[in-house]
Amino acid sequence: MNDDTKQYVNWFRHSSPYINAHRGNTFVLMLSGEAVAHANFANIVHDIALLNSLGVRLILVHGSRPQINERLQLKQITSQLHHHLRVTDQDTLTCVIEASAIVRAEIEARLSLGLPNTPMAGSRIKVVSGNFVTAKPVGVLDGVDMAHTGEVRRLDADAIAQQLDDGNIVLLSHLGYSPTGELFNLSVEDVATCAAASVDADKLVLFGADKGVLDSSGQLRSELLTRKAERLVGQYLASLEDADQPHTELSRHIEAAVNACRKGVQRCHLVSYKEDGALLAELFTRDGSGTMVLPESYEQLRQATVEDVGAVLELIQPLERDGTLVRRSREVLENEIDRFTLIERDGVVIGCAALYPFMQESVGELACVVVSAEYKGGARGDELLQAIEERARQQGLKQLFVLTTKTAHWFIERGFCESDVETLPNEKKAFFNLQRNSKVFTRDLSAD
Ligand SMILES: CC(C)(COP(=O)(O)OP(=O)(O)OC[C@H]1O[C@@H](n2cnc3c(N)ncnc32)[C@H](O)[C@@H]1OP(=O)(O)O)[C@@H](O)C(=O)NCCC(=O)NCCS
Repeated sequence: MNDDTKQYVNWFRHSSPYINAHRGNTFVLMLSGEAVAHANFANIVHDIALLNSLGVRLILVHGSRPQINERLQLKQITSQLHHHLRVTDQDTLTCVIEASAIVRAEIEARLSLGLPNTPMAGSRIKVVSGNFVTAKPVGVLDGVDMAHTGEVRRLDADAIAQQLDDGNIVLLSHLGYSPTGELFNLSVEDVATCAAASVDADKLVLFGADKGVLDSSGQLRSELLTRKAERLVGQYLASLEDADQPHTELSRHIEAAVNACRKGVQRCHLVSYKEDGALLAELFTRDGSGTMVLPESYEQLRQATVEDVGAVLELIQPLERDGTLVRRSREVLENEIDRFTLIERDGVVIGCAALYPFMQESVGELACVVVSAEYKGGARGDELLQAIEERARQQGLKQLFVLTTKTAHWFIERGFCESDVETLPNEKKAFFNLQRNSKVFTRDLSAD
């Protein structure tokens, strides 16, 4: 097997947890008109087809801003911006409808591709669109009649869910209909956000020209909490001199992500429509390719400090008493507390795990993985395990081992393999407590 094949097999194996996690989930993908017009859109469609075949329930929401502008220019219509929104008068509305229809047809055509020599061979995707979005007029803003510029009033979540249940991809546009039979031009961000919230989507993905959000030193932020994201948008808006100035795409996208999080969507992703594979990298790799915006939780994972010694003792003592964990005195714990990672909820420590590195052998001992009884069942053990693995990788360790008497299966189910006392680092072997007769399990830390 050559190196490329090995790398491919390795990548494929590492993506399997994500494949399992995403199956049956609902994702809303927002494709601006710019994204649809970009040369990389063909690749995005292939990746959408792949998500569909992996069992992800998909709602696509498209815009058509540049396509509308093209038509307006062609017909020499000057459309007015007011409060950074387009005023959609009757002539403009005609351009909006035309542009939207063309973009929709383009997406449907691309999703229909199934030629044998393409990545979409045999995909047979069914795309459904309809009057799922009910709109209302924005009305008169500071004396300016916004005419057919509207905002989302509601979405028919049940009808959309039914289509998704039938295995269809739902395609929504930036057009909405009112019960009075009128048509409204909506912002694509508004439709995408409301769609994600009303169908309880697991993710909202916003395709933009940028890779995501950069920090002050120009590095891509892979995660951004909503409060920070909101502050960034606030700073940007405050820097605008003119209220009618159109907002940048990135600020609109961050704002949409924040709104979606506030409405209950747990994960929003900003990814590039220009970069081939950005969507797959964001969804199927640990580091991602863009910026994930997520709500603050009142639970946080953090390093322990000496002030946590009491709380950790309280958490682990019941398990020391029943023999699940080896006893640690307060003194020992005080010395070792910086090896602990904690989950704190509303100021209370409800979970912990520790990493003891053996630098000479490049291995680390995972120890003391505990979740408080009343909080079990929330995958917090996995969260702790992941954090310890991350910490071990940062320290350059190649393998984790764990000694356990009662929790063998929990570790086996998380990829640990039974090993032998002889494989332990010498220092650990010297102190191995034969009486406890613990089993040894190891797990390699991949380099990815
Ligand atoms: C291991 C632990 C941290 C996981 O906490 P958690 O993330 O909240 O997960 P849960 O306790 O809900 O367990 C998740 C799954 O593992 C199983 N599991 C838990 N403990 C197990 C054990 N000792 N042996 C086998 N399976 C176990 C659960 O039954 C559950 O399976 P299910 O989803 O099929 O029902 C927690 O169970 C714990 O604190 N255990 C006691 C301390 C311990 O044994 N630590 C390891 C020694 S270092």
